[in-house]
Amino acid sequence: KNQFKIAVLPGDGIGPEVIGESIKILNAIAEAFHYTFEFTYGLMGAEAIYQTGNPLPDETLKICKESDAVLFGAIGDPAFDNNPDAKVRPEQGLLKLRKELGLFANIRPLKMYSSLIEKSPLKKEIIEGTDIQIFRELVSGIYFGEKFTEENGEYAYDVCKYSREDIIPIVHMAFQEAQKRRKKLTLIDKANVLDTSRLWRKVCKEIASEYPDVELDFMFVDNAAMQLILNPKQFDVIVTENMFGDIISDEASVIGGSIGLLPSASIGESNALFEPIHGSYPQAKGKGIANPIASILSTAMMLDYLKLEQAAEKLRKSVEYAIENKYVTVDLKAEQPYSTSEVGSFIADYIKFSEKSYYN
Ligand code: IPM
Ligand code: MN
Repeated sequence: KNQFKIAVLPGDGIGPEVIGESIKILNAIAEAFHYTFEFTYGLMGAEAIYQTGNPLPDETLKICKESDAVLFGAIGDPAFDNNPDAKVRPEQGLLKLRKELGLFANIRPLKMYSSLIEKSPLKKEIIEGTDIQIFRELVSGIYFGEKFTEENGEYAYDVCKYSREDIIPIVHMAFQEAQKRRKKLTLIDKANVLDTSRLWRKVCKEIASEYPDVELDFMFVDNAAMQLILNPKQFDVIVTENMFGDIISDEASVIGGSIGLLPSASIGESNALFEPIHGSYPQAKGKGIANPIASILSTAMMLDYLKLEQAAEKLRKSVEYAIENKYVTVDLKAEQPYSTSEVGSFIADYIKFSEKSYYN
């Protein structure tokens, strides 16, 4: 197969800017490797609320279901963050999309670039060689349990629920990834307090017998938050429930120097969505300063998913080349920072140039 239908949801804030760079990259990949990508755009998030009243219009959902993969930018708008009474919120669009597409596994890789070691807030000795793959459960838990706020606004709750079926598929995925890597899997939970965490432990232990070559260990989430800073190298693959995964993946992201570098893949039975882990960064909207690399590396994860591994590899190499040559945005504290679109164009040109000169 060399023709692919891609749903593109730019979303809010810097979303459209970073997605624009991913499209530029895919056009370069298409040219260099002779693939065809057909892009269909959809509205989601605050932008969708402003235009249609719905954070996930039916039309958008349909486009996503009919595509080979979904590329997504970012979601969120201060107009809603600052208004606790808003009934319709941009984030509901993303949550509904994850649920409707059954995207149960959110994969967030963390890798160090040697040329960026000095940019990390942590010491070089601590972070050098860190390579972690986080598997976050994405369609259950407290995000999707029953919610309630009393009329007077003085009482509220959110229920956290898990069933064995919600846990099994992502745990298998995480074990299989660990087998390909350093063969260590850590379940992060709060099993000293939460029943759902005790269920996670039980299911993980059962599944572990199918992967005897992988070492399974357990860590409480509070300790894990500390261990990620003290000794991140001890982790190989992490698997965890929805909200713990949300929190520790943001924490882990700064180890590499900037959250603007980290991609993610959300995978289901028959659909997949790719998005940077950063948010909509409204303060930077329209300024051309957003780092497009997280979105571009999410695109590389999409190429892997579409089984275009060679193109994915080329793209990762090109990103590395840009980083090593200091072709980066202002978040990486470069002496001479480049704009969002300069970084994207540099990577796109490098893909086209290097493919032509070596292979044609
Ligand atoms: C993320 C984001 C989302 C989440 C928000 C925007 C709903 O923080 O993808 O990590 O909490 O899952
Ligand atoms: Mn998050």
